[in-house]
Order: sequence, then structure tokens, then C-alpha cells
Amino acid sequence: MCGFFGIVYEQDKANLGSILVRAGKRLSYRGYDASGVVGIGSDCSFDLRKDKGRIEEVEERLHLSEVKGSRGIIQLRWATYGIPSKENAQPHYDCTKRVFSAHNGNILNTPELREKLINDNHTLQGENDGEVIPHLIEDGLAEGKSFTDAIMGCVRSLNGDYAFVATSLDEDGMWAVKKGSSLFLGIGKGSVCVSSDLTAILDNTREIVTLRDNELIHFTNSGFTIEDIETGEIVNRETRRIALSVEEIEKGSFEHFMLKEIYETPAKARSHLRLLKNNPSYEEAAKLISQAQRIFITGAGTSYHASLLGKYYCAEIAGVLLNNSFASEFSSLCSNILKQGDILIVVSQSGETKDVKNVLNEFRDKGGDKVIGMVNNIGSTIALHSDIVLPINSQLEVSVPATKTFTNQALSFLYLANKVAELKGRVSQEFDISFIEGMIQDSIEKGEKEVSRLLDKLTGQKEFYILGFGLTYPAALEASLKIKEVAYMHIEGMYSGEFKHGPLSIVEQGYPVIFITTAEDKHFVLSHINEVKTRNGFIITIAPLDEELSLASDIFIPLPVSNPYLVPISATIYAQILSYRMSVSLGINPDFPRNISKTITVD
Ligand code: BG6
Repeated sequence: MCGFFGIVYEQDKANLGSILVRAGKRLSYRGYDASGVVGIGSDCSFDLRKDKGRIEEVEERLHLSEVKGSRGIIQLRWATYGIPSKENAQPHYDCTKRVFSAHNGNILNTPELREKLINDNHTLQGENDGEVIPHLIEDGLAEGKSFTDAIMGCVRSLNGDYAFVATSLDEDGMWAVKKGSSLFLGIGKGSVCVSSDLTAILDNTREIVTLRDNELIHFTNSGFTIEDIETGEIVNRETRRIALSVEEIEKGSFEHFMLKEIYETPAKARSHLRLLKNNPSYEEAAKLISQAQRIFITGAGTSYHASLLGKYYCAEIAGVLLNNSFASEFSSLCSNILKQGDILIVVSQSGETKDVKNVLNEFRDKGGDKVIGMVNNIGSTIALHSDIVLPINSQLEVSVPATKTFTNQALSFLYLANKVAELKGRVSQEFDISFIEGMIQDSIEKGEKEVSRLLDKLTGQKEFYILGFGLTYPAALEASLKIKEVAYMHIEGMYSGEFKHGPLSIVEQGYPVIFITTAEDKHFVLSHINEVKTRNGFIITIAPLDEELSLASDIFIPLPVSNPYLVPISATIYAQILSYRMSVSLGINPDFPRNISKTITVD
């Protein structure tokens, strides 16, 4: 994913480096393979320091916070093109070491551009895709173009979804481009800054400007201009004030963002449920779904599991079938069958996941009709390209494993399914906000107590299965994903009815199998439990209080809910707490698990 931040002041700042490092730490969940800064003085001197490793490690080695100057850039890297190394770290520079840039996203035609640049006698330091940017700008300048026109020329050569910031020792201010990846502009008192993420801007100002794709921004310490890259027209845009609190972006008394965000879930669910009531976009979406012939739904990771739960809610409550697929699977499955009138629902908390953006673009190209985008980040690319935006109002989620956003995605689908049912004259559920909020609060308090009974049994286990049935199947998948993400254990989620058709062979004396079920489906699940029990498996059941299920289990974990539609939400909160406690007991930082990142902006 990567993330960058750039800022311009009027005069040299002795603490420019620490301002950049503070912003870098806000962006650290976007990439921790390499980190780097460049500070440029009003005397056109520059100080470039970068290396592989997380921001904290590189700061310790290279003292990035000691950099001085009147403008500076920091970049955090999540390796795609080129291994984690100093040469592939950013900011990058041109052959003259006068043009500097940093980017996030990915440039698809990098191999061709690199070959051309090398044939034109440019010296490239590494293999990273972003390194072509300062060299392409250098070419434009060598042709006598202005810096703006040189950037325009560079952008015309690039293919892909990206955003970048660039500056030069010979120019005032900085330039930035948004083309498919996130980018925000912040207007401070005496400074202007850009960043891939709002969190890095909020320490400097709350006045931000929303940027759109295909826009080029030039900014100095006192102002900015926005130019439409396609038309060349100057775009006027007002600033808007962000209400997000710094607390929102701090851990507070929690050791990790993951636990903080789990504990924020009841409050975020309450505020979301209040905003849902009579929300015009949810009404409009329900109307569209109730009248549509064919509806496709997709997402990635946790959002895919939320979309699958949405499918179950719509089928069971509204009698409407949603055709679901993984976002990365959509093209091979659906691209040849799309037609006029089809509806697409895309689910993405960040609104920037590349696999999901690909689906949206393909759906449009193939003549699909309306796109409904369920997002947490309403300023995101997916929100900007959707016909109807369904916000989930979880506020910022920093920890890589998604938690509070899953709950609000699930509640959004439950609300939507009920709305569609009403429009179709079917019986719909009473949406009692205080009851749901109480249930979520209970799930956290009782969850902490109950899952502690499982920690000794499960932590460090090489493997085990988590099985769900009907509504709880998506919860079983999400539970196994959480444990994979933050405890690095190979735990498989599966449909319990399928277990006897093969995987049952794995079961031996004491082999743990977790069953998640509603009381309504217990009859099926009881026979699945017996299939494992008779092979001496160790049965753990997570379900609403039930004598029969309790007797059939070695460990029975009661859920504080009765309504079957809320069981998957409560069970998933239990699994979030279990995976968190497992992760911490294994000495892992659950906020920044190895090898993955909060949002993947590459294919
Ligand atoms: C992955 C994250 O990169 O992307 C997951 O590690 C997340 O936590 C998935 O669920 C999808 O992200 P989004 O932003 O599209 O919901």
C-alpha cells in the first residue's frame, strides 16, 4: 500500500524532521518494509535519509527527525516492485539529484518505462516502480518544459493507480497528483501539506481539501492550485473542516489499536444505527435491490466475509439472492455474463482495495448498471466512483485486522435486508438500537471472560477448524481469518455440513474443532458435532445458551444473544477478542502483522 506525506513552510524549520517522522508514524500501518525522508532548505540544500525497515528502526539508525528545511517529504513502503532495500526506499531522485518524489499505488508499465529511461542514459538506483517518476520529470525539464508541464508529461506516460508528490531544488513549493489512489490536501496556518491518509494531516490542520482523480495540485506554504489533468482547467474547491479527534487516531490507554477498536464497537454501532434510520442512500439502495433482476456482491478479506453475511441476510429476510464472489475472482466468474440492468454491491472499509476497484471498473466497462459502494472511508476512490454510497460510520480503523468495521458492515446489511423485505411486503425485523448496542457491549464483556477459557487449549495449536452453518458460516470464515492474520496459525473456516465430505479424516484424539451455530440450526450442527466426537475430536461450541449443545461439547461458550441474525456478529466479536489475546500471548504486535497491510492497492 505505501503512504507518503509532504509539507511546505515559509521558512526553514529546525524540527522539520520530527514533523515528518510524526506523520510517518501515522502512516506506518500502510507499509513497514522501508522508510525515508528528504528535507529541502530555503538555500536549496537537501538532506535525504532512507533505508529498509519500519519507521521506528530507520529513525533509530538514521535520525530522520534531525532533518531540517522549509519543505520535506516522508514515505513508508510496502514492497511490491523491488525487495525491501535502501535503493528501493523512497523518496526517489533524478540523475541531477535536484528532483525528488514519493508515491503510493502501483505503476503497471514500469518495465517498459525503465527500459526506455536506461536506454536514454538515465541511472536508476533500484527496481522500485516509483523511481521512474523523477526521471520522467527530468526528461520534461530537459526539453525546456515548466515543472508543471514536465509533471503532466510524466503522468501521460504512467499506467496504473497511484498518487505521488514531487518537488525540485529549483522550484517553490511542491506538486502532487491523484490518479486512482488516495490523496488529501491540508491547509494549515503558514503551511500546506499533502498525504495518502488523513491521519498524517490532522496533526497539522483540520482544514482539508478533497481531491479527485486526474487532478494535479501545486502548493506552497500559503496557497494551492488544482488543475484537471485531462482538460487543463483550473478547479476551484473549498476547504472543509474535519471533526475527527486526535484521540481517534491515538491508542489512548489501550496497548494496541486492535483492542481499542474492538472496545469502540458498541459506540460506533450505536452512532451508525442512529445514522441508518431513514438514511436516503440506504433507502435508495434498498429500492434498487428490491427491483433488480440480478445483483452481484463482492469484497476482499474481512469485507468479503461481511458481503457473504449480507448475502445470507438478504436471502433469509428479503428472499433476494445476491451473487457473491471474491473481488479477485469476479473477472473470471462474471465478466462474460454482465449485462444492462445488473446491479453491483462493492464492500470495502478503506475504499481503496485494488481488487475491488478492478471489479468496479470492469463492471462499468461491461455495461453493468448501478454500483452501490459500502465503505468506511467516504472520501475514497470507491466511494467517489459509486452511484450510491453506503457509509458504515466506524470512523478511522488503524489496526490492520478489521474489527469494528466488520460489525458495522454486518449491521448495515441487516438493516438493508429488512428494508428490502419491507419493500417486498415481507415481514421485517424490529431494529432495536439499544438492544443491539447492549448485545455488542455484552459480547465484549462476556467475550473477554469466555474466550480466556479457550486460550490455554488453543494458543500455539498447530491447527484446528472453525465450522459454521447458515448464518454463522461467514462468522466461521472471519474467525479463522482473524487468527491467521494476528496469531500466524493455520486455522481453517469451513461449512460444517461439508466437513464430513473429506476434512473429517484429519480428526484424531483431542483434535480441536470449533462449532459456531444459532439455536435455530442446532439440529444439523448436533449431528456434525457427533461426527467429530465419535472420532475423539475435542468439541468447542460457541452458541446462544443451549442445554443440548452444551452437553455435546467439551467446552461450551455461551453467546449473550437470542436473535439468530445477531449470532454471527456476537460470535465474530468473540473471535476478534480470542485472536487478539492469542496474538499478544505469542508476543506478536496484532496492529502490524507481518507480510500484510491495511489496504492492498496492488493487483
Ligand atoms: C487486507 C486487510 O489488506 O484488505 C484486511 O489486511 C481487509 O484486513 C482487506 O479486510 C480488505 O480491505 P478493505 O479496505 O477493502 O475492506
